[in-house]
Amino acid sequence: MSAEAASARIEELRATIREHDRRYYQDDTPAISDAEYDRLFRELVELERAHPELQSEDSPTQRVGAPPSDAFSTVQHSTPMLSLANAFDADEVHEFDRRLRDLVGGEQLDYFAEPKYDGAAVTLRYEQGKFTRGATRGDGRTGEDITANLRTVRDIPLSLGADAPALVEVRGEVVMPQSAFERMNAALAANGEKTFVNPRNAAAGSLRQIDPAVTARRPLSFMAYALGSGEGELGLPTQADLIARLAQWAFSTSDYAALVSGVEGCLAHYKRLLEFRHIMDVAIDGVVYKLDNIALREEAGHLARTPRWALAHKFPAEEAETVLEAVEFQVGRTGAVTPVARLKPVFVGGATVSNATLHNADEMLRKDIHIGDTVVLRRAGDVIPEVVRAIPEKRPQDARRAQMPDQCPVCGAEVARPEGEVVARCTNGLSCPAQRHAALAHFVSRRAMDIDGLGDKILTQLLDQDLVETPADLYKLDKDTLLGLERMADKSADNLLAAIDKSRNTTLARFLFALGIPDVGETTAQALAEHFGSIEALREAAAADDGTRDIKPATKRFPQLTAVPDVGPVVAAEICDFFKEPHNQAVIDALLAAGIHWPEPKSPRGDALAGKRFVITGTLPDVTRDEAAALIKSQGGQVSSSVSKNTDYLLAGENAGSKLEKAQSLGVTVIGWEQLQSLLQ
Ligand code: IVH
Repeated sequence: MSAEAASARIEELRATIREHDRRYYQDDTPAISDAEYDRLFRELVELERAHPELQSEDSPTQRVGAPPSDAFSTVQHSTPMLSLANAFDADEVHEFDRRLRDLVGGEQLDYFAEPKYDGAAVTLRYEQGKFTRGATRGDGRTGEDITANLRTVRDIPLSLGADAPALVEVRGEVVMPQSAFERMNAALAANGEKTFVNPRNAAAGSLRQIDPAVTARRPLSFMAYALGSGEGELGLPTQADLIARLAQWAFSTSDYAALVSGVEGCLAHYKRLLEFRHIMDVAIDGVVYKLDNIALREEAGHLARTPRWALAHKFPAEEAETVLEAVEFQVGRTGAVTPVARLKPVFVGGATVSNATLHNADEMLRKDIHIGDTVVLRRAGDVIPEVVRAIPEKRPQDARRAQMPDQCPVCGAEVARPEGEVVARCTNGLSCPAQRHAALAHFVSRRAMDIDGLGDKILTQLLDQDLVETPADLYKLDKDTLLGLERMADKSADNLLAAIDKSRNTTLARFLFALGIPDVGETTAQALAEHFGSIEALREAAAADDGTRDIKPATKRFPQLTAVPDVGPVVAAEICDFFKEPHNQAVIDALLAAGIHWPEPKSPRGDALAGKRFVITGTLPDVTRDEAAALIKSQGGQVSSSVSKNTDYLLAGENAGSKLEKAQSLGVTVIGWEQLQSLLQ
């Protein structure tokens, strides 16, 4: 690139980055994904490195964040609030470690590896142990005084206790847990208020409220990880000691931090956190490696905006930008019509994605998504990729809104959306081929009737050729019929017939789940099966309860069904509706007539074991531990997995191990299968 071209590009990048900084730090309304921002920033860093003569003091690379807004008074940070250098792959981590070893000496350095929280950095000043002032990072030198707002954050201690130093500044990240974020956004949307793009913006936006009472209602947390005037100020030798001290002062610190050795240790911890990130409620976007030895940090020193002794190793982006090329509508098992985004393929979260869910019509409207838009796509772990938002700044002239269809795109029947419901449904029930297909696919799926070898292609053929209409028809298939299907060999036909036959022997819970009653997932199916013990009992309860649906107060409706743990009035109403439908009753009868069966419950429900806590261990005669547990629960007992002093009985079979020892040491009564039988009498 010529010097001239480089200069022009550098100016362009600086202006773009400044604009995005302003949106991100001041308005809390970012317009591009973090990954995109990182790319722009890196390009600028590299161009400036290649052309040092074009370096300038006011380049975004020379500062941190954005200047404070004038809504709050400003705070001069005693020590700048630095940023962190980023690494995006293992090579860059090796490179960082090598440089650091050159600076401080040593073969293998110890690092303290912490989650990189995705929130808003703040600094908290404590004088004589009392919280006196809190500020945002601002541009790294000057921040905003948000003391009143920070006082409302529940896990910021207002006092550090008796052993606090005369003056100390604690730094860390204000975050909003994912679950709280979702609840808050739903509440904001319900009030017609502006929602937040992600937990980080929600945290930053909540902290910059003019009225602290608003901040107080926001579910914020604070994670502590550093000191204001350098971690050396308390005289503690390592980061691990520092974190322990912060925890003593009642700050929240991460359960996912670890002291590791060398690059290999860093990378191993990175891998662990990459797996944990989806079960963590607090969003993290990488791992920070910090030289554990605080004295050595002095020797390493820092650059304009980043210390040389720490590195942020970022996770692969789970968000990416791409173009929404079309919106199609899929019809699911319950007739729900779901808008599906067809996208220009893009690599995100470790896979190439070209389809994503748009959830429902309301979501599409709320997010104001147009066909032709550049959109932010999110793919986190194994969840279905979703379109998070559109980027209106990049909207082309000819972009247009996608229209929800009035007619089912598969069968042409009317699509209805009952008042107060978000989901639009095809009204054609099982007469709609799409619904029939989805219902059958669910029926045969692994966690339902578990019919192996009945994939989508075969199902489509069976339906298209009218060989199967309801699940019961599957049990009437014969070999000749199957051999008539495309690509069906003798052997596969035999296997499929055997799989269908095998599925006749099932459990009541699986059967109920397989029926596809709306809102009845595996857990609810299990609860219904345990509670009622038979399909007849459930049918009777549903019929009896149906008559109570208009009773006031609402809490008196569906008394039998709502007695089942997990079943509330909404699910109870769905169950009643399902059993009221003659077609569903006919299918159930046909399935039972086809020989579907399950083990009878060993004995009718009772309360012989009410309130008793059991733990089961070892091999029991005749029954599996799951069956024994079901028996105990059917008689009112509870079953847990570990022995404690609250355990009433340990039911022990052969080869009982550590649980038996523990029970004996705690004086818990140990019984065998026979003794359980006598307890039941
Ligand atoms: S240490 C001198 N530790 O990441 C280094 N920062 O990109 C000071 N961050 O400004 C920061 N988690 O807002 C540190 N465990 C962690 C962090 C962390 C998140 C943020 C912080 C910082 C930014 C740098």
